Amino acid sequence: MAGCFMYEPKEYTYPNLTSISQDAFELHVNLYEGYIKKLNEIISEYKTVNKGAANHNYSHVRELLIEKTHNYNSMILHELFFESLSASPKPPSEYFKKAIEKEFITWGEYLMDLEATAMSSRAGWAVTIFNKKENKFQNFALDLHDMHVPIQAEPVVVIDTWEHSFMIDHGINKSKYVKAVMQEINWGLVSDHIEGLCCN
Ligand SMILES: [Fe+2]
Repeated sequence: MAGCFMYEPKEYTYPNLTSISQDAFELHVNLYEGYIKKLNEIISEYKTVNKGAANHNYSHVRELLIEKTHNYNSMILHELFFESLSASPKPPSEYFKKAIEKEFITWGEYLMDLEATAMSSRAGWAVTIFNKKENKFQNFALDLHDMHVPIQAEPVVVIDTWEHSFMIDHGINKSKYVKAVMQEINWGLVSDHIEGLCCN
């Protein structure tokens, strides 16, 4: 549709991970592309939907808005996840570590909390967020892409905990996947991101 903004999926090359196989990674990227295809369909359809018929019990407007959040959040979360993984991850900067230690006492406590958050989310995400107003980091467990999503929150670390992210390589051993994937988060890259956001 003319004048209608459309999202483009980013291209991802398999980064030779040990936590996720090439097949699983590439299938995951295919899923991500599917979310963006649906997001674009929703955006396009929303241009001509009958807004006069909007209704909170059921309406086409409502359904499009609800599914837009699902697919939009999925796009953002998957991009953050794919981009944070590296076969040769760099450690966190001292700046980031200090900011984390203000909330979690030690870096190790933060990692334990993130792991527990990942084990607590269902088909969803473990997310470390930074709230600029509070100048504070916290971990949250999201279900799906759009349930229990904190507001006023910039995601800085995300871990996909949907079954599609781990069952191909790890079966139902979610814990093995979470531990392995946490070893391949590029904390150096995360540090660069947060240094633009915080901290006093
Ligand atoms: Fe996913």
